[in-house]
Amino acid sequence: MTSITIRRPDDWHVHLRDDEMLAQVLPYTARQFARAIIMPNLKPPVVNAAMAQAYRDRILAALPEGMDFTPLMTAYLTDTTDPAELQAGFESGVLTAVKLYPANATTNSAAGVSSVDKIRGCLEVMQRIGMPLLIHGEVVDPSIDIFDREAVFLERTLGPMLADYPELKVVLEHITTSDSVDFIMDRPSHIAATITAHHLQINRNHMLVGGIRPHYYCLPIVKRATHQQALRKAATSGDQRFFLGTDTAPHPIGAKHSACGCAGVFTAPCALESYVQVFDEENALEHFEAFASLNGPAFYGMPANEERVTLEKRSWKMSGDIEGAEVIRPYRMGESLPWAMV
Ligand code: DOR
Ligand code: ZN
Repeated sequence: MTSITIRRPDDWHVHLRDDEMLAQVLPYTARQFARAIIMPNLKPPVVNAAMAQAYRDRILAALPEGMDFTPLMTAYLTDTTDPAELQAGFESGVLTAVKLYPANATTNSAAGVSSVDKIRGCLEVMQRIGMPLLIHGEVVDPSIDIFDREAVFLERTLGPMLADYPELKVVLEHITTSDSVDFIMDRPSHIAATITAHHLQINRNHMLVGGIRPHYYCLPIVKRATHQQALRKAATSGDQRFFLGTDTAPHPIGAKHSACGCAGVFTAPCALESYVQVFDEENALEHFEAFASLNGPAFYGMPANEERVTLEKRSWKMSGDIEGAEVIRPYRMGESLPWAMV
């Protein structure tokens, strides 16, 4: 196959940031995706519907003329979130979902949740009204090795949580391990997972052999190749419970090239092209539309997009650093990519 036409995809996990950086990165996501779930880990975090509404307005104001893009907003869960406020935000259509960051698990997560016991009131309401919970699935226990933090989260936190709230709609975000794939495969269809393009394409050798590559550093951290293979199999299987979420996470280059560099890969400029390459390599192009454009809307109870996009097998070169208010290095900078968007 040398070209593929699919319904226009959506990105179910995006960091757009704010202010000048928002204006700089938004066109890359809007070029590829009709809708995106917008992460709330700003400084300060987007913790309620009023803040989400204001953030949505800033996103739409930053959208270049003529681009068609719908931001789907989330609220950042804290130990003190008011369940009634989440419900009102969901029922008014401002909030699509709620994001759970374990406190201090990742970028701007200090105000996150310290223990499941603090959010039981929210979980009960969300389960009742069908409001999805999007989870950064890593424990923060300092005694747990960074490469094991996702697997331990399943056992210690997510398994017990789902036992207590069996009807809660959950997306385990940006999964990185075969443990998470197996966990999802054992559950009903209201428990789903997103998978990033970079976790499909790289493993920890790419990040660490022959030198440390800070632009491959993200959280959850990329794991060994066997996990990468399990993710590739799950994503390309066509299984409804797996769908596209890039976790594109731009940082100024100085914050990446640092003695204590930030986590995040800026994949938006070549996300779809990277995903389709993986499906091609796995001889699974027939499942690409399900992963990119159908499974996500089905989970969220939204219609799939009516527009179509075409990708073709034609080599192009990813640009250099993106210069603007900030200098931001795109994933795969300077590399030749075998698939292009038409
Ligand atoms: O790599 C990451 N970057 N993982 C996250 O969970 C957060 C994100 C960010 O906001 O930079
Ligand atoms: Zn993220």
